[in-house]
Amino acid sequence: MAILIKNIKELLQIDEQARDFVSGARMSTLKTLKDAFLLTDGDQIVDFGQMSDLDITVLDRKHPDLQVFDASGRMVLPAWCDSHTHLVYPASREIEYIDKIRGLSYEEIAKRGGGILNSARKMEETSEDELYNSAMHRLGEIIAMGTGAVEIKSGYGLNTASELKMLRVIRKLKDNSPITIKSTFLGAHAIPLEYKGKQAAYVDLIINEMLPMVAAEDLADYVDVFCDRGFFTVEDTDRILNAAMKYGLRPKIHANELDYSGGIQVGVKYDALSVDHLEYTGDDEIQALLNSETMPTLLPGASFFLGLIYAPARKMIDAGLPVAMASDYNPGSSPSGNMQFILSLGSIAYKMLPEEAIHAVTINGAYAMGVNEELGTITKGKKANLILTKPIPSYEFLPYSYGNNKVEKVMLKGKWVIQ
Ligand code: NIG
Ligand code: FE
Repeated sequence: MAILIKNIKELLQIDEQARDFVSGARMSTLKTLKDAFLLTDGDQIVDFGQMSDLDITVLDRKHPDLQVFDASGRMVLPAWCDSHTHLVYPASREIEYIDKIRGLSYEEIAKRGGGILNSARKMEETSEDELYNSAMHRLGEIIAMGTGAVEIKSGYGLNTASELKMLRVIRKLKDNSPITIKSTFLGAHAIPLEYKGKQAAYVDLIINEMLPMVAAEDLADYVDVFCDRGFFTVEDTDRILNAAMKYGLRPKIHANELDYSGGIQVGVKYDALSVDHLEYTGDDEIQALLNSETMPTLLPGASFFLGLIYAPARKMIDAGLPVAMASDYNPGSSPSGNMQFILSLGSIAYKMLPEEAIHAVTINGAYAMGVNEELGTITKGKKANLILTKPIPSYEFLPYSYGNNKVEKVMLKGKWVIQ
C-alpha cells in the first residue's frame, strides 16, 4: 500500500547521498525541505519533494490504493535509532535507587551485590514468557515516543542458561515487533558472585561455553564487554573480543564510564562498531577514535540519572569525530528509553546544536547499530520508519521543549503503528 504525506511543514534529515554517518563540523548542518510531501510504498520511502512539484493525479493513477494524509503544521523526520539498551530485564530497581539518593555510588551498590547482580538474581526466577511480555510492553512505550530501531543487550543472566534465555527473548521480540532490533551478547557485564576473585575463570566460561552456544544458535548480532574500573579489564576484554571475532561478532563495548579504562583503545583495536558511555575521554582516546571506523556513542541519560560527569561531546565533535547518542535504557543507571529526552540532553548537557543532536539520534545511531543502509535518514529506498510531530513552530523546538512529547504519529516499515 502507498501512503502520501502531504503539506509537511518541514521534512527533516534528508540525505540523497546516503552517507554512513555525519561527523565533525558537518554535524551542524541538517538538510530539510519546507512545504514538502513524502511518498511510501510497501515498507519503503519511494519519493519526496516540494509540494509545488507534486502531481496527485499521476500518483493516483500509479497507486490506485493511495492513502493520503495531510500533515499541515507538522514535521516529518526519521524515527530515532537507539543503539544501546538493556530493555530486557526482570524487574525495576527503584528501591536500590533510594540508596543512590542517600549517597551510595553506582560502584558501591555493585560491590554490595546490588546493581547488575541484583538483576541477575531476579533473572533466575523469571520465565522467558514474563521477560518477553514486559520487554514487549517497553517496546510499545518507546515506539510511541518515536523510536524505530533499538539494540538490546543480554547481560543480566551471567550464566550460560540465563544469557541464552535473554537472547532467545530478544530473538522472539525481533520476530514479533514492528520495530527493527539488533541483539548484543553481553555475558561480560559483571562478575557473578560465585566467580568473585576468579575473574579469569568467568572470562574462560564466556569464551569456552557461552560464545560457542550463542554463535551456534545465531543469537547475537554483536558482542559487548563492560570494560571499566571494577568490572572487566583491558586484558579480559582483549581475550573476549578476540574469541568473538572468530564467530564474526563485531564489538560494541561499554567503555570509559568510570575511568580512563583503556576500553576505547581496545574497542578500536578490534574494529568495534561503537564504543559507548565515554565519560572519561581525553586526547589519546580522541586520537584513537579519529583513526577508526568506530562510532563514539554517548549515553547522557546515565550521566543524568547517576549524577556522573558528562562525556566531552563538544570536544569530540570539534576534533572532527562523529557522535551518536542512545538511551542506555536499563533498570540501574537509566530507567528510561525516551529518546526525545536524550535529544534534549544532547543540547542541554553536551551543548550540542539541535542539528548535531538530531544527527546523533538518527543516522549516527543507525550506524552504531549497523542499520544505516536502511534507516536513519530520509532517503529514497530506505525503510519508512518515520515520526510525524505534533504541530511545532520549528525543529529547534524538538530539543528545546524537554520532557514534553512532541510525537503525534509513528510509521514503522510503511505502516502507521501509532496514530
Ligand atoms: O550501561 N554500565 C554498565 N551497564 C549498564 C548498567 C546496567 C545496570 O545497572 O543494570 C549501563 O549503564
Ligand atoms: Fe549500557
